[in-house]
Amino acid sequence: MTTKLPPNFVVVNHPLIQHKLTLMRDKNTPSAVFRQLLREISLLLGYEVLRDLPMSTRSIETPLTQMDAPILEGKKVVFVSILRAGNGLLDGLIDLVPSARIGHIGLYRDPVTLQPVEYYFKVPSDIADRRVVLVDPMLATGNSVAAAIQRVKDCGVKDIKLVTLLAAPEGIARLAKAHPDVQVFTAAVDSHLNDHGYIVPGLGDAGDRMFGTK
Ligand code: URA
Repeated sequence: MTTKLPPNFVVVNHPLIQHKLTLMRDKNTPSAVFRQLLREISLLLGYEVLRDLPMSTRSIETPLTQMDAPILEGKKVVFVSILRAGNGLLDGLIDLVPSARIGHIGLYRDPVTLQPVEYYFKVPSDIADRRVVLVDPMLATGNSVAAAIQRVKDCGVKDIKLVTLLAAPEGIARLAKAHPDVQVFTAAVDSHLNDHGYIVPGLGDAGDRMFGTK
């Protein structure tokens, strides 16, 4: 099935990402390798999602001369991880922007209704003045991510982007309807969700694969 992507979706189709993603999908890939691959992909996705960060210049002296050199401007970004699988994308992004603030949103999917239930929410107090990059590797039904985005919007945040690894057509449609203003970066768009809400072909439960909990 080919999914026509809404304008707020970007598939980052880089060969390095696609190669690493294939290794992650393989059910025989051990947890330690899975985590490392996710971290590497997060660096590559982060490069794209932060491409339009505002810049200014700073006057510096090189060993040879003075120059007005480009530098990141203004308030730093906030990376907000949707627990628990979001943490797998977090470390690489923090490597890219070490001074970023970090938030966490704990949501679990009710196994019967597949609806999100919040159990934890902690973000910087000045989050409204910052760019928020939400991270969750699996955009499945889109219910949890849509709820997390709404939670952040309710804090007054205007500039929100989402980084995900795999997206299902169902989640894409859900976000396009609920949050068309949020730009989404994903490494791949898969075929569909199965009856248990898993992405097919997917990679299984990202949290379990990452933390070896199954
Ligand atoms: N969450 C996961 O970890 N995997 C899926 O396939 C869907 C949601």
